[in-house]
Amino acid sequence: MYYPDELIEEVRMKNDIVEVISGYVRLQKKGANYFGLCPFHNEKSPSFSVSPGKQMYYCFGCGAGGNVYTFIQEYENYTFPEAVKMLADRAGVNLPEIEYSEEAKKAEGKRSRLLEINKEAAKYFYFQLRARQGEVGYSYLRGRQLTDETIKKFGLGFANKTSNDLVQYLRSKGFTPELIHEAGLCNVDEKHGMYDKFWNRVIFPIEDINHRVIGFGGRVMGDGSPKYLNSPETPVFDKSRNLYGLNFARTSRKGNIILCEGYMDVIAMHQAGFDQAVASLGTAFTMGQAGLLKRYTREVLLSYDSDGAGVKAALRAIGILKESGLTGKVINLEPYKDPDEFMKNLGKEAFQERIDHAENSFLFEIRMLEKEFNLSDPEDKTRFHREIARKLCDFSEEVERENYIEAVADKYHIGFENLRKLVGSTAAKTGLARPVERPKSGIQKKVTPEENSRRTQRLLLTWLVEEPQVYPKISRFLSAEDFTEELYVRVAQRLFAGLEKGELNAASIISLFPEEEEQREVASLFNTKLIEPETQSEKEKAFHDILVSVKRISYEYNTSRLGTDVEALNRVIEGKKALEELSKTHISLN
Ligand code: CTP
Ligand code: MN
Repeated sequence: MYYPDELIEEVRMKNDIVEVISGYVRLQKKGANYFGLCPFHNEKSPSFSVSPGKQMYYCFGCGAGGNVYTFIQEYENYTFPEAVKMLADRAGVNLPEIEYSEEAKKAEGKRSRLLEINKEAAKYFYFQLRARQGEVGYSYLRGRQLTDETIKKFGLGFANKTSNDLVQYLRSKGFTPELIHEAGLCNVDEKHGMYDKFWNRVIFPIEDINHRVIGFGGRVMGDGSPKYLNSPETPVFDKSRNLYGLNFARTSRKGNIILCEGYMDVIAMHQAGFDQAVASLGTAFTMGQAGLLKRYTREVLLSYDSDGAGVKAALRAIGILKESGLTGKVINLEPYKDPDEFMKNLGKEAFQERIDHAENSFLFEIRMLEKEFNLSDPEDKTRFHREIARKLCDFSEEVERENYIEAVADKYHIGFENLRKLVGSTAAKTGLARPVERPKSGIQKKVTPEENSRRTQRLLLTWLVEEPQVYPKISRFLSAEDFTEELYVRVAQRLFAGLEKGELNAASIISLFPEEEEQREVASLFNTKLIEPETQSEKEKAFHDILVSVKRISYEYNTSRLGTDVEALNRVIEGKKALEELSKTHISLN
């Protein structure tokens, strides 16, 4: 970690979580907590809670949760040090200069200088578009029906016909030739020396999700080759981990993200009000980009070109979405080639209709597959059906598989039972897909006995965090080692150490875990929904039951480990005693 723990705690405590989150989410007080619409998934009724007492947030819908740092990291896509910096600034806390290694210092300095030079270049292009010499560019963009507002929003610019004025300008601003080159803004050869990479093109600055310019795309005005030139990858421009338009799309709250192929598509969509549109950066869609999208949505609508290349790209993207656990659907743009053309010809209402009727990605795959077969030929038709059956084997969950068998049988007029049998025999030969690991989202979790016992353990931890005054009454029955998950043990050790001193340190425990996934899980330990018993005696009984269950789970867990774990026997004996004693003990919650 870069900063001392005490400093991280100080900054955290000076940033009240309710105040910070209120800057992003509209919150309403309900009882002791605040509620609002979750910014990490789409929902219509608020299940996102912020607790001033615990200084934590938790979404009962999607399982997002953590302390104020987690929130800033997830919302702003900041690293932990970046989140600390932002919150320290906000609270007026001075951070010491970080002791970077020489190498880290160099890398960090390089990144910020690249961002700096990109910003300067973007300003220059932007200015050129509005100058006399930029008129061709401006009228090209207006000719493509972009409004001034749109041109401004996307910071579009123009690179002059003269071949080294950007280089000269950047030099005059004090940037070194090496940096200009490393930013990908020039080419060098023996005959011409250093000259602008982009010239006589309209310029699309590419921004990361925090609106920092990380690279450029430049388009010829009219027909010409290559149609687009793009910046090369640099330390700030990773093409597989950024998406064009995501800086706007991530706050659009439309409940889905529309993935297009081109810059112009994204811009046309945003201009028409579909501000959830993004595109990859002149390269194929990647797992890294899918991971990025997953922070903001569960559903991705593909709006790729309707030509052969577009379909091929869409099929690839579907595979990636599936692998990432995202739902994919396909928007039909026919008879138009791409979203930009569609919008120009049929307009936004028609496009909204296409969104509403977007096709399930599996059915799209089958429909594309169908084109490869001649269905009037029985042999070809059989091969088509076999191929369908093979694909259906990819659904590991029975209900889902059955639903798809039904849908496909219906659509292609295959007998349901026949197709089902075919899937069965195919699976017998090739095996069903292994169940895909579901994202740790809290949704769709299967309720297994293990999950039930974990839930009971979480209930106890949550209860202790919500009513820390009961801890002294039960501490002699309970130890952190009673928990059966390693993470729970680690959390309980720290929580109990705090409670021993009469301190509630739940939010600070979260900062001890570097990974957002872990932070989210820790938050869930403190935010498991308690049943709300009506009377005090019912409440006491509920608490007693939970405590006894946790002890019993621990007892059984340790019993099963007798023989492998030397500590287990002690814990079994101790656990049996505690259970007996607990059965006779009344624990008052007052
Ligand atoms: N692309 C590229 N290099 C090319 C052609 C395309 O990098 N020579 C990338 C660009 O990112 C482009 C995307 O692929 O935005 C889609 O290409 P295309 O559909 O040809 O371009 P559009 O963005 O639709 O642009 P336009 O509407 O101006 O044709
Ligand atoms: Mn296109």
